[in-house]
Amino acid sequence: MHQSSIIILGIESSCDDTAAAVISNGKVLANIIANQEVHKKYGGVVPELASRAHQQNIVPVVDAALKKAGISKNDITAVAYTNGPGLLGSLLVGSSFAKTLSIGLDIPAIAVNHMQGHILAHFIKELDEEKEMPEFPFLCLTVSGGHTQIVKVDDFFKMKVIGETIDDAAGEAFDKVAKMLQLPYPGGPLVDKYAKEGNPDRFSFPHPKVDGLNFSFSGLKTSILYFLQKELKSNPEFITENIKDICAGIQKTIVDILMEKLLTAVEETNIKQIAIAGGVSANSGLRTALQSLTKKDIKVFIPKFEYCTDNAAMIAITGYYSYLENHDFSKNSIPNARMKL
Ligand code: KG4
Ligand code: ZN
Repeated sequence: MHQSSIIILGIESSCDDTAAAVISNGKVLANIIANQEVHKKYGGVVPELASRAHQQNIVPVVDAALKKAGISKNDITAVAYTNGPGLLGSLLVGSSFAKTLSIGLDIPAIAVNHMQGHILAHFIKELDEEKEMPEFPFLCLTVSGGHTQIVKVDDFFKMKVIGETIDDAAGEAFDKVAKMLQLPYPGGPLVDKYAKEGNPDRFSFPHPKVDGLNFSFSGLKTSILYFLQKELKSNPEFITENIKDICAGIQKTIVDILMEKLLTAVEETNIKQIAIAGGVSANSGLRTALQSLTKKDIKVFIPKFEYCTDNAAMIAITGYYSYLENHDFSKNSIPNARMKL
């Protein structure tokens, strides 16, 4: 390894994925992730089980990342880890591991904000890749199981939330509605799968009235619940017989709600570059809606799927820019479950 390379080991453990990645001068050498199957039967993430699984996974995952990258631990310049937001028990596993490693190797430990990581995932490069990246300022729609935000990004670490959900996140809405449809957790990808074959205009659901650039999804959840209860009364097979059209209608409503606010944000800020981040950016309906914005002269950036959902490459790239900007790398920073941008 060249002496001049800045090699960052990234560690992500904020929710139910244990992940480690190695980035050298901004380029990915390894990006490893261990999903936790243990939560499936509970219909959601069980925090205590998540932190136990992180403890079992963290060493093998980091080891696999170093092997894949072809480096030894002594080649690492700094270790970056997710410090929040997330589940406290889960964050503690990754942050304790990262800090211990940094003390052992006498290198900086860089605390990273998970939401910043999702946004800076747009700056991850593959080896031998020169890709177009968003230019500052840009707008980023961050849509995951825990968050729904529109962020104005002025620089790597100068970001401002200009709109966010006042209740459920978009991914949470997908998952909760999927549960009502008796689909397994996480239901978002399944709603998407059925929606692709359904008619989005057969069932329609109301849009919430929320001020400014904020979102709300809890009303939608309730109206779908009442809708299903009513239909099931007259036909107990209603869900199985109409699953594709129901999913298509729900997906269209969620995507329309997101797009309405995003377009308002474009008008208000006059910023014509939109980036998207978080697990829900995998949604085919949202991707199609975003692609159509290019007709309006709006540039759209969608990261590779593996960088949309939780991953450690986004933590490593954020650590890399933080290292370049010479931030304060105190080992005293404590994980913060509700860390803000
Ligand atoms: O960013 P992420 O991996 O984890 C966090 O929540 O931080 O996002 C996971 C969320 C889940 O709610 C999942 O249902 C949703 O992203 N999701 C989708 C799709 N793929 C993942 N929602 C709708 N359509 C999809 N294709
Ligand atoms: Zn996330």
